[in-house]
Amino acid sequence: MFSVNIRQAERSIDVDIGSTILETALQAGIDYPHGCRAGNCGGCKSRLHSGDVELSPYSEFALSQAELSDGLILACRAVPWTDCDVSWCELDDVAVHPILDLNCRVQQLEKLTRDIVSLKLKVASTEPFAFSPGQFVYIEFEGFPKREYSIASYVDDTLEFYIRKIPDGTVSSFVWDYLVAGETVRVSGPHGNMFFREQHDGPVIAVAGGSGLSAIQPIVRESVRYYPERSFLLYHGVRDEADIYRSEIFETLSNWHSAFEYHPVLSEATGERSQKVGMLHEVLSEEIQDLSDGKAYLAGPPPMVRSCSDVLQSKGLDSMNIHADLFFTTEDELD
Ligand code: FES
Repeated sequence: MFSVNIRQAERSIDVDIGSTILETALQAGIDYPHGCRAGNCGGCKSRLHSGDVELSPYSEFALSQAELSDGLILACRAVPWTDCDVSWCELDDVAVHPILDLNCRVQQLEKLTRDIVSLKLKVASTEPFAFSPGQFVYIEFEGFPKREYSIASYVDDTLEFYIRKIPDGTVSSFVWDYLVAGETVRVSGPHGNMFFREQHDGPVIAVAGGSGLSAIQPIVRESVRYYPERSFLLYHGVRDEADIYRSEIFETLSNWHSAFEYHPVLSEATGERSQKVGMLHEVLSEEIQDLSDGKAYLAGPPPMVRSCSDVLQSKGLDSMNIHADLFFTTEDELD
């Protein structure tokens, strides 16, 4: 028998060996959200904060591979192997969009800094594509393995991505050096659980490292457009002033919306700079006060995400309110 803490119920239940979390919770009188009880609908989707479970077979529709990798489980399929800590997903915690395979054509490539390129792809497929701000797609250039890229914008059937040229990275080097307008590209998605939660109405902090801005930009736009009164702080970490890009978008937004603040942060500033200087987590540690009712979106290299997440939790932010997308720094790590 294992003890399973269910956060929203504010209690723990004892789950017999071989029993699922959902059936035991329902027997214990907990109003655990669910539908089919058979791994087909996703109605019992939950986050496993700690512990280990075995999942019996379920449909990909109910739980995608990306969601599983992100720590989500199906309570109706989950048999604990250890004591566990879980919470069921609130409505706001699940993005439901059809996953499509899209034929696209390269529309424009624009070098924004010494290692960031904007790639715009015109979607040729006719199915209506939708995504939640912050999600990513897989892009497959002909002759190369597919890679994950976060959607920076989707306007007039055109997807935009900010892609960093990774030293010795085969795909990003191809994009930087050889890809030209007109080439065909396969895109599939959307995927990912790091997306904007509309129903949360507390302050928001978003932290992007380098090309992580691709994931954060649509979250900023969505929040500022539909919830202009909501406090929103954006920190974008780059090396030096010349590595700042798309600042005009965020400066314009901050001029129009007093609740939105934009802060580029330079980690390797040379000479006198007007921007904030330091590592992102150091700047956050100095500047952020109480965040107990806030939400955070983080996108960037794993060490940056971890260090910033630690700082934000030390400021009172619950780990459930931290949504992160890890951008690996070498393509080998993705293979
Ligand atoms: S209740 Fe339908 S997938 Fe669990």
